[in-house]
Amino acid sequence: MAIVWKEEYNTGESEVDKQHKVLFKYLEDLEDHMKAADINDHYIKMLLDNLGIFTRSHFCYEEICMRRMKCPAAAENKMIHGKLLTAYGSFLKRFEIEGVSDDLIQKLHDFLESWLVNHILKIDVQMRDCV
Ligand SMILES: [Fe+2]
Repeated sequence: MAIVWKEEYNTGESEVDKQHKVLFKYLEDLEDHMKAADINDHYIKMLLDNLGIFTRSHFCYEEICMRRMKCPAAAENKMIHGKLLTAYGSFLKRFEIEGVSDDLIQKLHDFLESWLVNHILKIDVQMRDCV
């Protein structure tokens, strides 16, 4: 079942939270398509394209917020964002070479889920003490 945004994901910065909720929606949408066995190259391309554009601007916004707030997690957050973008780039490259496959879909799903659970809950929420 899709993980849902709840209070513990609250960063105290409303725009960041709004953007995180969009990421939850991407995961929920992917899970809906997986359940309906309704996934093709076109869908994954659209998902990866949208995710790439949205994520870059979200990371930028969040990094600026953390820097302005002098949040102690700012440097670590930026470093992890770099790693997430590298992992995203690997998915994009693999998709461009191999196209869609069950393995790629599952790994993309697990990557998104772990990002939302681990990154937001461990790093992004540290903003709460700085807002
Ligand atoms: Fe972050």
